[in-house]
Formats: sequence, structure tokens, C-alpha cells
Amino acid sequence: MRLVVIGATGRTGGEIVAEASDRGHDVVGVATEAATIESVDVHPSDDLAEVLEGADAAIDFTVPDASREHAALAAEAGVPYVVGTTGFDEQGMSTLREASESVPVLKASNFARGVQALLQVVEAGVEALPGYDVELTETHHNGKRDAPSGTANTILDVVDEAREESLDRTHGREGEHLRDESEVGVHVRRAGNVRGEHEVMLAGNDEVVTLTHRAESRRVFAAGAVDAAEWLAGREAGWYDFADAL
Ligand SMILES: NC(=O)c1ccc[n+]([C@@H]2O[C@H](COP(=O)([O-])OP(=O)(O)OC[C@H]3O[C@@H](n4cnc5c(N)ncnc54)[C@H](OP(=O)(O)O)[C@@H]3O)[C@@H](O)[C@H]2O)c1
Repeated sequence: MRLVVIGATGRTGGEIVAEASDRGHDVVGVATEAATIESVDVHPSDDLAEVLEGADAAIDFTVPDASREHAALAAEAGVPYVVGTTGFDEQGMSTLREASESVPVLKASNFARGVQALLQVVEAGVEALPGYDVELTETHHNGKRDAPSGTANTILDVVDEAREESLDRTHGREGEHLRDESEVGVHVRRAGNVRGEHEVMLAGNDEVVTLTHRAESRRVFAAGAVDAAEWLAGREAGWYDFADAL
């Protein structure tokens, strides 16, 4: 498969290039500037339209503003588009949705299979424990831009669905504040080179349940993203998520 990796020089993009090359795909990279990663040619993003010609799929792990442009170019070129970039605002999301009218678009805030399992377990736990307090803590490396993480927001959406209400997302606490039952606490840590950790605490009735996922290598995101691209190539235009591919 001819695969374009956008953000190939990045922390995650580099792992995607390695994973896709190991699987025998014909990989071409794109980043802000030309480079070589794992003996794969990386082209500057100005050349993206040209690089997309004849590609079977593109995988994008960059920044939201750039990904909007990449999605539009993938749509123009008719190339299935997998996006792992997080932190999109509403405008960004609508650009991605627009692209999905012309090509298949698969977006996931987390390409680790374990996180998909965590989402199912969180849903079951919240449903089984009505009235329990829910608190979420996520930790990532000190180079992460957006907070809370895209995965944290996905987990919070699952909690809302399971509770059938929108809980108040309370980001950290300071000063006098008595916890309200409509709150879900959200706590963010940024330190060192932590790949990504999410912990959901359910507490009530003299007991505490904690559900944790910890990514131990970025390769797990890379493997999931390449799985997604392999699955997406050749599908009909539309909007897909990682659970569809799994
Ligand atoms: N969904 C998931 O499973 C998952 C997992 C991990 C990370 N992420 C998300 O993926 C994104 C990237 O994370 P990261 O830690 O890999 O970031 P990173 O190390 O900072 O890498 C960013 C990459 O994007 C490229 N880039 C930046 N601006 C660009 C532009 N305008 N055009 C083309 N390329 C551009 C950079 O190229 P240069 O080096 O040339 O500037 C670099 O290759 C973040 O949004 C992060 O939250 C998602």
C-alpha cells in the first residue's frame, strides 16, 4: 500500500513511518521541512498535493490548523484520510466532516486498542455505579500542547452518555469549593516523557474503583493508526472511528 505519513518527523509520526515500513508498505513522509526518517523521504508540506497523487491512504499526526488543510487536500486528491491530531475546535471539526463527504475519514483521539477497551469498561462501570463520584486524571509528556487530552474528552463524553446527563467538567480545584454531585473533576499533569496515562476513579459507598490505561510506547498508537489506514483504504466516503476499524 502506498501510504503518506503527515508529521513524519514528529514523536508519533516517526513511529508510524517505522511501523508502516516494517509492514512492507511503500511509505512517503511529509513534515514542515524536507528530511529523511528511517530511510523514508520526507517532503515539505507545500508538496502535499503532489505527494498524495496515487496514494492509497494518508495518516496525519500534526497540529489542528495544519490538519484542516491536509484533510481538504486529501479530499481533493480522493485519498482516504486517517487523523490522530487532537485539539480541534468546532471549525476544525467541520472541515474534517466536510472532507468525509468526498473521501473516507477516520478520526480517533487515541489509536491504542487498550483505550478502546477502557472506554467500554468505563461505560459499564459508570452504569453499574449510579451516584458514584467520577474523577479523571491524565498525564502526558511536557511537549503536549492541548489539555485536557483528546482521549480525556472522549472518556468524559462516554461518562456523560452512561449517566444520560452532561456533568460539569471541573478542571482542577482551588480555594473553597464543595464538590457538587453534578461535577466530574478533570486533572491534567504534564511531565517528562510520559507517553499517555488516563485514570478514571469511581468513588462512593466506602469503596473506590480505579480504571487506568498507560501507553508504554508510542508504537502502540502507530500500530493502531496503520491498522486503521489498512482498513480505510478502498472504503466509501464517510465518517469512521477506530472502533469501526477494530
Ligand atoms: N490519536 C492518538 O492516538 C494520538 C497519539 C499521540 C499523539 N496524538 C496527537 O498527534 C499530534 C502530534 O503529536 P506528536 O507528539 O507526534 O507531535 P510532534 O512530535 O510535535 O510532531 C508534530 C509533527 O507535525 C509536523 N507539523 C507541524 N506543523 C505542520 C504543518 N503545518 N504541516 C506539516 N507538518 C507539520 C511536524 O513537522 P516539523 O518537525 O517539520 O515541524 C512534526 O513532524 C498531537 O495533536 C497529539 O495530541 C494523537
